[in-house]
Formats: sequence, C-alpha cells, structure tokens
Amino acid sequence: RTVYVNGDYLPEAEATVSIFDRGFLMADGVYEVTSVLGGKLIDFAGHAKRLERSLNELDMKKPACFDDLLEVHRELVRLNAIDEGLIYLQITRGSDGDRDFVFPDPDTTEPTVVLFTQSKPGLADSAQSRTGTKIISIEDIRWGRRDIKTVQLLYPSMGKMMAKKAGCDDAWLVEDGHVTEGTSNNAYIVKGGKIITRQLSNDILHGITRAAVLRFAREAQMEIEERSFTIEEAQAADEAFTTSASAFVMPVVEIDGVVLGDGTPGPVAKRLREIYLDESV
Ligand code: PDD
Repeated sequence: RTVYVNGDYLPEAEATVSIFDRGFLMADGVYEVTSVLGGKLIDFAGHAKRLERSLNELDMKKPACFDDLLEVHRELVRLNAIDEGLIYLQITRGSDGDRDFVFPDPDTTEPTVVLFTQSKPGLADSAQSRTGTKIISIEDIRWGRRDIKTVQLLYPSMGKMMAKKAGCDDAWLVEDGHVTEGTSNNAYIVKGGKIITRQLSNDILHGITRAAVLRFAREAQMEIEERSFTIEEAQAADEAFTTSASAFVMPVVEIDGVVLGDGTPGPVAKRLREIYLDESV
C-alpha cells in the first residue's frame, strides 16, 4: 500500500510518526472513514465538514494540508487502485518531543496527518448485508462528547469483542435505559413503517450516512421520528438497522437473543440500503 503521512506519499513500511505523538500517548486525535464505491468517494464533503468541527471542538489547529484533503483522498484511491473500500484519515495534535498533559504550543507544533486505504471488494454487496447482524446490548460508559469523532475507540472495540464472545456481530450501547448508538454506527428501529432513530446531541456521533439516509427516506415519503428508544422497544419492533460509512445500511435481525420479525433483513432496511447505494454513487 501507498499511504500518506504529513505531505508525503510513501510505501506503508516507510511511513513513521513520533513515539511522542499525542495520538499515540493520549488518544489526542480525530478521524474520519470515507467509503469508496466504483473508485468514487462517497459523501466526502460531509466527512470534511465533520472533521473541521471535530478539530474546532478540541482546539486543534487545521493541518497545512487541510484544503488539499480531497485531492489526497483521490490520489490514494488512484495510487492503490481502490474500486471498493475505505479511506481512513487521522489527525492528531502531534508532539513537541515530550509527554505532557498540557497541549503543546500550536505555533511550533504541527498536527500529524495520516491517511491509508483499505481495499474491500464486495463491500456494497456484502454477505452480512444479506443475512443481517445479531446485536447484544451493553452499557454505554464512553465519555460525554461522542459528537466528536476522536480516536478513543477502546470501549467500542471491547464492545465488539463482547458481541463476538456472545456469538453476535456487534453491540448497541445503552445509557439511562435508552440506546445511544452502535459501537461504530447509528442505530434505528422500524415500527408500523415509521423509522425511529435517536435525536442528535453530544450523546452520539452525527453520522454522515445517517444524514444521507434520513434525507433519502424523507424524499421517499417515509415517516421518521427522531427520539430515543429502549432495548425492549427495539426487540418489539418490526425491524432494525444501523448506518455507517463502512457498512452503509446494515439490517439487524436479532437483539439480545430476541429475533426480529422472521429473522431476515426487513423491507425498510433493504429498501434504504438500495436507495443509499443507488443515490450515493
Ligand atoms: N464509525 N457512531 C459511531 C460511534 C461511529 O464510530 C460511526 C462511524 C458512526 C456512523 O457515522 P458515519 O455514518 O459518519 O460513518 C456512528 C466509522 C465508520 C468507524 O469507526 O470505522
């Protein structure tokens, strides 16, 4: 793979960052994942806008290459001949060559910018999207600024491991009895044709796929209710699904051992996935 580090395109084995980088020592960094379908970037503008917001919220300065990021994404797609896959982008606060809780002086410390591609042939027609996913619920013990896309992914990672151990695929996070979101996706249920998903706040990531899917659903005259819901309500729903840049619209067929409907992907999730893939490419 050819990767991008601070202005340079390099073979991955030659790409390095400092051991003092605050992304490495303190998870002091933000990221974005943009999907590629047919060699085309999906929703890049939305990801760039959220990235800028994440940087602002953490008082991180924009890297010098910020305005070139679209070009960098395109160049990596070209250099690695990506047809279907993902591009990972990470910006950390960098380092002034030591470890300190206090932020380094932004006038003399440059952010670290890293991008790499992940080729995923068959992403749009994945086997998982045809069978759906099985979900467990776990307590949401993450910090209170989940609207910022930071690289603090230890708990979501542990959540996925707990799901795997339970013979499932993913976890939904529950706070005060209500589902916030999935480990790496936004969560939805469908009841009587109505799409229900949690309202935006600092409690969840403002998904770029969420925004697109809700827009397409509105255009298709589907009913949407933005409010929180419980696991019990989800288990009694007609269907459920998640959205993310890495899996688009992913049907959910089981929640904490309770099978939804006939245990296969529901019609609303299937339709939204089709519309999303049609309209986005
Ligand atoms: N995750 N919620 C969380 C906690 C996420 O990590 C993500 C994305 C989403 C969906 O956002 P979007 O539609 O903008 O991808 C919601 C990415 C894909 C990841 O960590 O790999």
